Amino acid sequence: MTDAASTDTRPVVLSGIQPSGKLTIGNYLGALKNWLALHEQYDTHFMLVDLHSISVRQSPADRLERCYEFIALYLACGLNPERNVLFVQSHVPAHSQLAWILNCYTQFGELSRMTQFKDKSAKHADNVNAGLFCYPVLMAADILLYGAHKVPVGDDQRQHLELTRTIAQRFNREHGETFVVPETMTPPIGARIMGLQTPEAKMSKSEDAETNAIYLLDEPKRIERKIKRAVTDMEGSIRFDQENKPGVSNLMSILAACTGQSFEQISAEYDGGGYGQFKKAVADAVIATLEPVQQRYAEWRNDEAALRDILRDGAQRAQQRAQTTVDRVHAALGFIPA
Ligand code: TRP
Repeated sequence: MTDAASTDTRPVVLSGIQPSGKLTIGNYLGALKNWLALHEQYDTHFMLVDLHSISVRQSPADRLERCYEFIALYLACGLNPERNVLFVQSHVPAHSQLAWILNCYTQFGELSRMTQFKDKSAKHADNVNAGLFCYPVLMAADILLYGAHKVPVGDDQRQHLELTRTIAQRFNREHGETFVVPETMTPPIGARIMGLQTPEAKMSKSEDAETNAIYLLDEPKRIERKIKRAVTDMEGSIRFDQENKPGVSNLMSILAACTGQSFEQISAEYDGGGYGQFKKAVADAVIATLEPVQQRYAEWRNDEAALRDILRDGAQRAQQRAQTTVDRVHAALGFIPA
């Protein structure tokens, strides 16, 4: 697949996060931190999917604050705008353009089977809007616009990725090779962080229970308190056993991701010392990991003009590439060239 707008020949990576809830240490250890090195091998695109976020109600003032906050956090976590295309979805009109077209290549039955749609429509039963239903189609547009080869996402997005592949293949079959068929890029083992109170389920950024998640902007005292109260078990031993010891295993994952230690090293160092000592070590490691992020965040967040400059530049680069795909799709569909 050639792309006139870019001379970069490396495979393309694209991912995005929705501006809802608050970014957690799970987003950092499971996603953002792993994105940082990808630019060495890939032509990387990271975005904030604000268009997706309107499928669930949120006040415009909250949304605006959250969008700035998330972008400032992307940068504070170390995403470099010179090495990655960083942008906001709504700044690039091609996303909405392609989404409509792909709607016509997606079956009602396929969207009805999406587990996230079923979950969200149960949770927001008073507002099951068409956008919530078509959410995966917009996500497919995000991915296919850039010819992304690899898409780093968590397990909860696998079904959406599968649907994206189906849509791409269907279009290619009908209209000739138009889209790259993307693959999921799985995060490294141990990068899946679970809730502190519900270690059987992923730590969520939109979780209602404050104590279940560690947020990137939590103060050290609060982090310590949350980890102290994290669910463990009665056994008193520090060993990795996701099935029987989900709480302790999750704390081990967090410690491993923060310090680079292996589970064996962690067991050797802390087993026998009791959960209190172990939790203290986890809290210290999390606080040390987040301290520089929080410092850099404060600087970025105070400079909205700088954030907007970065986003403007990112959007320009993104739109240029995305437009070549829209043009190709329009031609494939028999639209008169503009
Ligand atoms: N749906 C994704 C999530 O909730 C966010 C998302 C939107 C995304 N578009 C994307 C992720 C494109 C990867 C690629 O996590």
